[in-house]
Amino acid sequence: MLTLPDFPWDSLVPYAAIARKHADGMIDLSVGSPVDPTPDVVRAALAEATDAHSYPQTAGTPQLRAAIVDWYSRRRGVSDLAEANVLPTIGSKELIALMPLLLGLGRGDVVVFPRIAYPTYAIGAALVGATALASDDPAEWLSSTRLIWLNSPGNPDGSVRDIAFLRAAVARARELDAVIVNDECYAEFGWEASSPSILDPRVIDGSRDHVLSVYSLSKQSNLAGYRGGFVAGCSDLIAQLLEARKHVGLIPPGPVQAAMIAALGDEHHVEQQRSRYESRRGILKPALEAAGYRVDHSEAGLYLWVTAGEDAWTTIAALAALGILAAPGSFYGDDARNHVRIALTATDADISAAAARLRDSGN
Ligand SMILES: Cc1ncc(COP(=O)(O)O)c(C=O)c1O
Repeated sequence: MLTLPDFPWDSLVPYAAIARKHADGMIDLSVGSPVDPTPDVVRAALAEATDAHSYPQTAGTPQLRAAIVDWYSRRRGVSDLAEANVLPTIGSKELIALMPLLLGLGRGDVVVFPRIAYPTYAIGAALVGATALASDDPAEWLSSTRLIWLNSPGNPDGSVRDIAFLRAAVARARELDAVIVNDECYAEFGWEASSPSILDPRVIDGSRDHVLSVYSLSKQSNLAGYRGGFVAGCSDLIAQLLEARKHVGLIPPGPVQAAMIAALGDEHHVEQQRSRYESRRGILKPALEAAGYRVDHSEAGLYLWVTAGEDAWTTIAALAALGILAAPGSFYGDDARNHVRIALTATDADISAAAARLRDSGN
């Protein structure tokens, strides 16, 4: 029988009830779901592609693959990819959860992911009965490791991995004959540090062997509802994923493929979105600090990783009393029990209101 962990968000429900009682209403900063509109250029491309009578290509249209190749070159400093090195996905969460299955992993195989991590890496291991190992130290990765997940910039803590770490991690993966994947979905949102791709030439030493990069358009282009993502890297691995995905029917819808091309080709809306988040961060971070909280990491990405030096649930309760809903660190690993994650994905009005409530609270 398949056993998966309880869905942790249910445990937040009582705190949402408290937050909702605030005289000016609840401000939900617990989830990272975009609130700003999907850019017109993307919506127009979707609208123009609604005649979708035939099956789309699992591999993506040649235009989409070319757009992904071009994006890595322009935005990620990875200039030598070909169409055989890239593959679109239906958002990135399905790929993350299914990667162990699509790579043929099973019982006895180890899947490694960060100690403080987005929960879907562990779910993927559970789906195939593989052993999940939360570890940030390449020296700890066991000989039975078959898949290693990195996540830079990280969710929930906004930490960034530099070239030296990525190089060491790739070298260790190759020594173990394991696939290594960096989930890079927050790459466009670097505040105090920029985060290199795992496919950066300074990381891979002239070969993409064993290495994949995963990206999502959900956040950079406010199209989480479209479900558009992709994976790039070693052509043998991409071919293996494509073959398996064809059999399963994991095909990005045709109109979404067209919308992805428009999103990848337009940098203006990404810059605009980046400045929205930058200004929200610039309002919320100092307000949290003024209220006595410490913000750790958060050098990049869409979250502030916050502690009051107490159990996360105590902080969640204190914030709920101000009508602010956050997510406890315990959702993301045993090392994170004293932190809460506060999302920047709220309207300017909500971010300003949250900041005002925090400043008034003078914690
Ligand atoms: C680290 C990380 N990876 C992947 C995803 C999945 O995003 P999507 O399925 O929308 O591409 C998320 C979503 O929040 C995330 O935080």
